[in-house]
Formats: sequence, structure tokens, C-alpha cells
Amino acid sequence: MDYGPAPESDAEVRAWLATHKSSFGHFIGGKFVPGAKHFDSTEPATGKFLARVAEGSNKDIDAAVSAARRAQGPWEKLGGHGRARHLYALARMLQRHARLFAVLESLDNGKPIRETRDLDVPLAVRHFYHHAGWAQLQDSELAAYKAIGVVGQIIPWNFPLLMLAWKVAPALAAGNTVVLKPAEFTPLTALLFAELAHKAGLPPGVLNVVTGEGATGAALVEHAGVDKIAFTGSTEVGRLIRKATAGTGKSLTLELGGKSPFIVFDDADLDGAVEGVVDAIWFNQGQVCCAGSRLLVQEGVATEFIKRLKRRMGKLRVGHPLDKSIDMGAIIDPIQLKRIGMLVDKGVAEGAEKFQPEITLPATGCFFPPTLLTNVETSSTVATEEIFGPVLVSMTFRTPDEAVMLANNSRYGLSASVWSETIGLALDIAPKLQCGVVWVNATNLFDAAVGFGGYRESGFGREGGREGIYEYLKLKAWAARKPKAVQRIAIEAEVKPNFDEPSVDRTAKLFIGGKQARPDGNYSRTILSPSGKIVGEVGEGNRKDIRNAVAAARAAEGWSKATAHNRAQILYYMAENLSARADEFASRIKAMTGVSKAKSEVKASILRLFSYGAWADKYDGAVHSPPLRGVALAMNEPLGVVGMICPDEAPLLGFISLVAPLIAMGNRAVVVPSERHPLAATDFYQVLETSDVPAGVINIVTGGRDTLLKTLAEHDDVDGLWVFGSKENSASAEKLSTGNLKRTLVDHGLATDWFDSASSEGPVLLRHAVQVKNIWIPYGE
Ligand code: NAI
Ligand code: MG
Repeated sequence: MDYGPAPESDAEVRAWLATHKSSFGHFIGGKFVPGAKHFDSTEPATGKFLARVAEGSNKDIDAAVSAARRAQGPWEKLGGHGRARHLYALARMLQRHARLFAVLESLDNGKPIRETRDLDVPLAVRHFYHHAGWAQLQDSELAAYKAIGVVGQIIPWNFPLLMLAWKVAPALAAGNTVVLKPAEFTPLTALLFAELAHKAGLPPGVLNVVTGEGATGAALVEHAGVDKIAFTGSTEVGRLIRKATAGTGKSLTLELGGKSPFIVFDDADLDGAVEGVVDAIWFNQGQVCCAGSRLLVQEGVATEFIKRLKRRMGKLRVGHPLDKSIDMGAIIDPIQLKRIGMLVDKGVAEGAEKFQPEITLPATGCFFPPTLLTNVETSSTVATEEIFGPVLVSMTFRTPDEAVMLANNSRYGLSASVWSETIGLALDIAPKLQCGVVWVNATNLFDAAVGFGGYRESGFGREGGREGIYEYLKLKAWAARKPKAVQRIAIEAEVKPNFDEPSVDRTAKLFIGGKQARPDGNYSRTILSPSGKIVGEVGEGNRKDIRNAVAAARAAEGWSKATAHNRAQILYYMAENLSARADEFASRIKAMTGVSKAKSEVKASILRLFSYGAWADKYDGAVHSPPLRGVALAMNEPLGVVGMICPDEAPLLGFISLVAPLIAMGNRAVVVPSERHPLAATDFYQVLETSDVPAGVINIVTGGRDTLLKTLAEHDDVDGLWVFGSKENSASAEKLSTGNLKRTLVDHGLATDWFDSASSEGPVLLRHAVQVKNIWIPYGE
């Protein structure tokens, strides 16, 4: 017996296209405006023309940004409740037109109607409801924050409507206005959404849609009137955007590629896991950033598992996306089809064994069969590159440790799926996986309340949940910052050879791996008071010293696993030991800076250490209740090794204010203290030595800020970078850290008030010291 076709009607979609004569301009300022140049959007399943859309020029982007700018003030002033009502109306609008959206999405993208109907559209609806709630609660829950302004959003073709919802809902909820650039292959649901949103009363200019290709996206990224860019797409383009926005002050979130592991232990429910694989890699034809594309099976069950998987693959049905009974639809475009084919061929050439079931594909259109590659080497192209198609590669492992090692053997870190009937094993593995989402005995679960986003080269920032809404807000206290005052007396650091001949009382060394270390170059620099008097000498650190410090910090990974209680104790101990030497520190600060409030700076530093001792075991994540039987644990995990450039203002308090939140959350730090006034940090060595801070947790390298920053930013073993220096320092931190896509926090040369706890203490910084991992744990048999 076989299934007959069960096609969903496309009459409603055809009628909507007809009202527009199948030709669209951009949606700017509440109406369609004609474009100058056009291109076609086609149906991947048939290759047929679907609609003509406009190719956005710089002028179009400019018009859209202006419209968004004009609308932003009034939109923000509308207040949380006013915006909540609009977001609620958008959710209702989407629900009312659910079928129209589902069919249009399926036609334009080629994905099965079953998926758009049951997943894309309902999840998009859920995002608008959820974020209507954040708008409502903004005044109470997010009172210290305000909207960022005009947001440029660039989305891919794999989940066109859903990515629109993930981006637009939080942006509008928080009081921003939006210019959205949909993907060139799939612009239609965004245009439909914009049109219906305005019919539902969304004020003109709040949401603008400019269609076009990469160049249109680039014009949006580069537009000076945009305050933030949110991007989902390839890691390659993500890097370009990081470079293009570096130093501009634009905030940025990147949701990029993945090569996510699907780990099957020998005690897993094998049939359940086989169904899991189907959802992991053949959902949306495998064109999913978090697709479980690397199957890791424990050796003892590998043969049996692969046998059952192949049998299941033979039952998959590939066909027209509007056929309700198919499992897989069309690949987005002939270009992508060719790319998938080439990568599979390369895999085979590199030694993999290819399996494709004997199933029939539609005679025409863009289709690729479900494919399994076994006998794959860990270093082969297909095991490391994102294929973005229905291709699964498989490897085996023996022990849980080996599974973790293989899983983490990727430059990406988006998601992972762990299959075992032993909950203890699954929950032991989950925190060890370097990725933003872990599904236990499940895969590809999503919800608006549960943040989504990556570690490492899968990008930074989160979408959904509380962590997601922060990405569209800025701290009021930071928004009010002014450029740093130019230091009145320019002091030339006097670099002298011969480290061994101290000219003043003592030359401070560097502090690396728990020990005072002589600088590699054997140079020192003289530190002068504001009046030009020599107050001391410090080591002149170089690239090699930074590398040594990073290696020491990397080796101190025990700190990231230490209990929060343990970390709290050490922060309190540091506070106590600093207290004991308060007068000494105060007079040192006075000698270096000439300021009169040296005593209060020391006092504030002691308080701050206490404060982070307090926070260490309290800033600890959440348990979400998404709409399924189960929970999602949002865990605050440390970034890892974080490099840091400390401000010249408040040389002790600035240093403490940055180091303490990082180490409270389990990070290890490589710190470049104030270049002008480093002696407070070098005096601090003794506090570190007497406070049981484990070796390598805090490493301090004194010297020239610009050169040391460069080495830190380019170092692939540094996970995060905090830069509180000049405007130029911020720019180079953002630009040079694109290699491994470090999480950066920079001040753009603006002056932070380190004495004001609203701008420099607690969650405002802790949030940047962690990355949230969401671990989904469904219940039931
Ligand atoms: P892409 O990254 O080029 O496109 C994503 C979006 O960015 C589109 O809207 C595109 O127009 C825009 N864009 C392209 N170049 C831009 C630029 N220089 N500045 C600003 N915006 C720009 O991805 P593409 O070409 O569609 O697919 C290529 C590969 O990327 C896929 O095979 C897949 O491996 C990966 N990809 C990953 C996605 C994910 O969600 N992780 C989504 C889409 C693609
Ligand atoms: Mg299309």
C-alpha cells in the first residue's frame, strides 16, 4: 500500500499574489514603495516563477532607516503596555492568517507544509505572544534599560517567517524600530507580514522591509543611522558584519552556522533515537543551523543503530512541499543543491561510505535524497564543514569522555542532542558540551521563553527568553556616558632596557600562572605621577608574555568547575586582604594619579569584591517551563578565558570592577591593567598570593595597551574580550577578534562611572561574564 498525494490548496496564496500582480516593492513607512531593479523569487519544488521582488539600493535602505528613525521616538514613548497591545495584535493577526502564511512559506522555500503549518507558524505566533509579555513587563522588570533605537535585521532563507518573528518580536517589544532584510530566496512571507501588520494597526515606520541580496544587507549593516545589527546566516557573512560594524558603536548579535553532534549512548532507546535522527537532520531538508548533522554512536550499538536508521531512511518520502504526507520537500535553490552534491562527493573521495535509500524523488525541481555517510574521519571535510542539506555523517565512540571530546571537536557550538536512558549520564554530559542548546532525548525543540544561540563560531547573543530581550536593550546608565576626558598631561612612558638594574625601589614583574614573572623582553617602563615624578617601574609585557598568560589561564580550567560557594569564599578573602592593606593602596593611588578620593576608591573596591562574593552563588540561571511535558534549564556558564584592558580612570576600582564579575562566574582572566597607573594592580599580586586564588585564574601583564590588546584580540584561545580604554582600542578589539568570534564588551572610549554601582556593578556586568546554555529535558516514557 502506498500513500496517494494529499495536496494542500494554494488558491489563497495565488489570490494574494494576484492582488499584487505578483510584483512587490519594498515596505517602507507603512506602504509598498516601488524599487528600481528587480529579481524573481521562484518555487524550489518546480523552479517556476512565484513573484518579482525589488532589489534594495542604498537609497531604499536610507529611506527605510529614516522611516524607522522617525517612528522610533513615538514607538518607545508609547510605553510597554501600548507596545504589548500591538504585539498581541500581531500574534492574533498571524493566527488568523496561519494557513496563508504556511502555504506561502512552503511554496517560496520548498519546505513541507506539515512543517510550516505545525512548526514555523505556531512558533512565530508564540514569539509575538511571549514578547507582548516582555513589553508589558518592561517598566517593572527591565527598568534600568531602554531601547537601543533603530535595528537592522538580516535573516536567512531556511526559516523565513520564524526568523522574522525571532528578530522582530523582541526588537519591537523593547521599543526599537526595525529595518528587515529578508533572504533573497524567500522574501514573500516578510512582505505579507509587513502588509498585514499594518492592516492590524502597527504604526508606519515601526517595521520596514527592504528586499534584496547580499549587497542590500551590506548597505543596511553600513548605514550610519542603524544602532544595532542582528544577523542570522553563514559564519562567513557573520565575520564580515563583525568587521564592518567594528568600532562604530553598533551593537551586534550573530546567530551562525553549526555542525551539531547527535550523541547516542548504548543504553539509549534506539528506536526513539532513530526517530530523533529523522527530526535532527531531515527536518527542513537538513537546512537547519542546529541540525544534528554529526551522529556519534557508542560502539556497542553502532551496527544495530545504523541498520535501523537505514531501514527508516527507506521509508522517508520526498515530494512536493504542499503534499501533506511527505517528510522532505525541496532544497532551496540549484546552487545549494550543487553545493550539497559536491560536499557529498568530497566526503566519498575522502573515504566515506555513502548510503542513500532506494526512494523516488520528483522528476523535476530541486531535490536531494536523505543521505548517510559512514566511515567518516574526524578531520574530513564532511565532518567539519556545515553541509546545510539532508546529509548525516556518522562516527563511533567508546566512552563518555570520548563522546564529549568528539562532540566538542568543532569550531562551531550551536546545539547538541544526547540520547541515554540514564539521566545521570545525560546530565553529566550536557554541561561539558561547548554549545548553547542541549536536547536530552529530544532534538530541535524551540520555544520563545527559552533562549537560543551559540558558543564559539556559532555566534554570540541569544534569541528568546530573558537573555534574548536584553540584546535589544541598553543600560540607561551606559547610554548616558560621555567620551572620556582627554588626559591633560601627556606622559611618555619611558622604556628602558636592562630589567635587572632597578632605578627606583623595585620593579614590579608580571603575574602569570600564580607567580611573579619577569617580562620576556627584559624591559621595564617607568611610571610617573601627574607632575612627572617617578613613582615606580613595571615590566613591559610583550606578545610572548600574553601567550604565556593565556596558556596559564587555559590550564586553570578547574576554576570554571569550582563551586560557586568556593569562588565566593575567595572573593571575600580578597576583600579581607585588601582591607588589611587599605592605607597602603590609597597612598599608592594618590601618588600615581594625584586624585584626592584615593581612600574612597579603595573602600569602593573592597565593597565591590564583597558584592561579587555575594553574587557568585546567586546569579544562577533559571528553569523554564516551555509548552511541553518537560523543563529547560537555563545555565549561566562562564565564557572561559577572557582578556581584559582596564581603564586608566580609577586604576584599582576599574580593575576590580572588571576582574571580580568575571572570576565570580568562573572565568579565568588575562588582565592588562591601566597603562598609566598600573601600580595598584601590581601591588595587588600580594593580595592574590595571600587569598588562595588558584594559579592562572588571574594573570596580569603590564605594558603598552595597544600592542597587548592586539595579541589578546587575535589569540584563538581567548574566548572573550573586555576593553575599557580608548575609542580606537574598542574598534581594534572588535575588528581583530573576528577570527574565533570572541564575545566582546567594549566602552567605545566612553567614561564609565566606576563609583556608581548602577553602571558598574552586579547583573549589568555579570550578564556579559556568562553565556547561557539551555538544556531541554522532556519527561515521560
Ligand atoms: P548568507 O549568510 O550569505 O545569507 C544570509 C543573509 O545574509 C541573506 O539575507 C543574505 O542576503 C545576507 N547577506 C549576504 N551577504 C551579506 C553581506 N555581505 N552583508 C550583509 N548581509 C549579507 O547565506 P547563504 O548564501 O544564503 O547560504 C550559504 C551557506 O550559509 C549555506 O549553505 C549554509 O551553510 C549557511 N547558512 C547558514 C544559516 C544558519 O542559519 N546557520 C542560514 C543560511 C545559510
Ligand atoms: Mg523562493
